[in-house]
Amino acid sequence: MKLNRGRMLTSMPGPSVIPDRVLGVMHTAMPNIYEGALIDTSVSVFDDLPAIAKTGGQAFMAISNGHGAWEMALTNTLSRGDHVLVLESGRFAIGWGEQAKMLGAQIEVLNAPQRGAVDPQAVEDRLRADTGHEIKAILAVQVDTASGVWNDIAEVSRAIRASGHPALFMVDCIASIGCVEYRMDDWGVDVTVGGSQKGLMVPPGLGLVWANDKAMAAHKTSDLRTPYWDWTARSSPDAHYLRYCGTAPIQHIYAMRTALDMIAEEGLEAIWARHKLFADAVRAAVEAWTAPDGLEFNIVDPAHRSDSTTTVLTGVIDAERLCRVCEDNAGLTIGVGLGDLAESSFRIGHMGHLNPPMVLGTLATIEAALGAMDAPMGGSGAAAATRIIADALKT
Ligand SMILES: Cc1ncc(COP(=O)(O)O)c(C=O)c1O
Repeated sequence: MKLNRGRMLTSMPGPSVIPDRVLGVMHTAMPNIYEGALIDTSVSVFDDLPAIAKTGGQAFMAISNGHGAWEMALTNTLSRGDHVLVLESGRFAIGWGEQAKMLGAQIEVLNAPQRGAVDPQAVEDRLRADTGHEIKAILAVQVDTASGVWNDIAEVSRAIRASGHPALFMVDCIASIGCVEYRMDDWGVDVTVGGSQKGLMVPPGLGLVWANDKAMAAHKTSDLRTPYWDWTARSSPDAHYLRYCGTAPIQHIYAMRTALDMIAEEGLEAIWARHKLFADAVRAAVEAWTAPDGLEFNIVDPAHRSDSTTTVLTGVIDAERLCRVCEDNAGLTIGVGLGDLAESSFRIGHMGHLNPPMVLGTLATIEAALGAMDAPMGGSGAAAATRIIADALKT
């Protein structure tokens, strides 16, 4: 039976649900793009962005998706032939590394254990072995949206520093910024990459990069620089037009301003705690559903399951059909599996503008779809998640 009337709910790991308050401010007629309110708003956004990554470094914002932000980070810091170490833990570090290769870098991939996280000791060992300091940059992802892994960036950074290696440390936080604790300066990260469409609650279209002094110094000698992404032009203090290398993404700037206001009102630490609580609820549900031949977590170690997205292996259950039943019959969009996990997993996004009706509605709907498919299930995930939320509501 089709029960897909009412408002569709998206619980994919991005793009996430956009708050009505953010959507509302995008409904704005075209202003003067050279002076006045738009420029003031844009300047305030650039001023406030460093706090989101907890850095005193510089923020750059381009009209792009996450892939564009990746490219901005690489082209501004690397030179042709540079050796780049890619810390694989799922699909996305690999994708970033492939982009670096196409741009002319030499790529070396250090694989995480299967269904696991980047191993800081393995990173330290590899860097210690590089006595000639051939490696110029290290790429890692904080949360991989395909595998659902959370990498301990503070520990990886400690391992890099313990090795005494000078390579730039670049971290993709596209699926974690505004969801999961992140402290760029305290953790010694040189370049952070983000996107507007997940934890930041803004439609896709703004690529974000934060760079510290070490990254800005690397920029001076980088020979991969291209006109569109170039940080020197985008640092222009007077010509605001140049900060976007052309016409500004007007409605997105208003959206980002409002999203940053909402983040400030709730507080980043409170946001991280809320994401952890909802992730605990999702994990309680998956734990309860787990059954022989049925569902199970992709990431084996509970300490490395991310607080913004969960990847669930489906065993004998047809993952694609599960996603179809949820969407076509019940009005809920969940994430299909990606890469190697395309046919054997689904993903639940729990990022951004979320409350209990959204999380519990998502989990109960998935459970109903599993029931409709006569899927093997250990127990009620919705009930387990409800207990987590109930405990939180007591405090
Ligand atoms: C961790 C991560 N990195 C990079 C990307 C690529 O971003 P985009 O699809 O906006 O280009 C994504 C998208 O889901 C992602 O989750």
